[in-house]
Amino acid sequence: MAADVLERWLSAVVATPGLTSLRDPEAARRVLLEDALLGLDLVGREQGPIVDVGSGGGTPGIPLAASLPGREVTLLEAERRKCDFLERWTTEIPNVRVVWGRAEEQPLEAFGVAVAKALAEPPVAAEWCLPLVREGGAVVLWVGPSVDRARVAAVAGRLAGAVEACPAGFAVLRKVGPTPAGFPRRPGVARKRPLA
Ligand SMILES: C[S@@+](CC[C@H](N)C(=O)[O-])C[C@H]1O[C@@H](n2cnc3c(N)ncnc32)[C@H](O)[C@@H]1O
Repeated sequence: MAADVLERWLSAVVATPGLTSLRDPEAARRVLLEDALLGLDLVGREQGPIVDVGSGGGTPGIPLAASLPGREVTLLEAERRKCDFLERWTTEIPNVRVVWGRAEEQPLEAFGVAVAKALAEPPVAAEWCLPLVREGGAVVLWVGPSVDRARVAAVAGRLAGAVEACPAGFAVLRKVGPTPAGFPRRPGVARKRPLA
């Protein structure tokens, strides 16, 4: 069942204008589906509800939700049109819910895990994701080979996050304390004035 719905979701993402620039089905499968599932073990071993920040067409949140049916997965997305697309999958994948909004404007510390793929530069993604996670929880970022891990660590340190060892292609930040006063900063500020 999960495989079937994921195939239909993948085809729909590629066929729907504005969700991905990938037109080649094999490239889309690799980037949107297989890359998402590379994080399954990292996310699956964490406890509590999951939020996919900047879910776009639904990756990595939809592949993770279909593979972890016992976990609640929130797809948080700033663009209304993309949320309308994401809503279509909530009947078939009942552990998914969709929230239209920005990371900087969500209730604090409501999740056990925040994941993000291609959301923003990793230091900015770290600043947006850490306040969403409760103490003891984790942020799992999909990152490219050029990621500046020192910058991510510097940002994490400002937001009660600590870098953990993890496989290549990821950055994992443990939330080791409450979100410090002053965070999240106002919408747009993290991108305009990164902390590191
Ligand atoms: C490049 S897309 C990546 C989408 C998907 N995660 C993927 O890997 O294909 C980034 C998405 O993040 C959303 N986004 C950007 N800033 C955001 C914010 N502050 N809060 C929530 N969503 C945001 C954008 O609307 C966009 O859909």
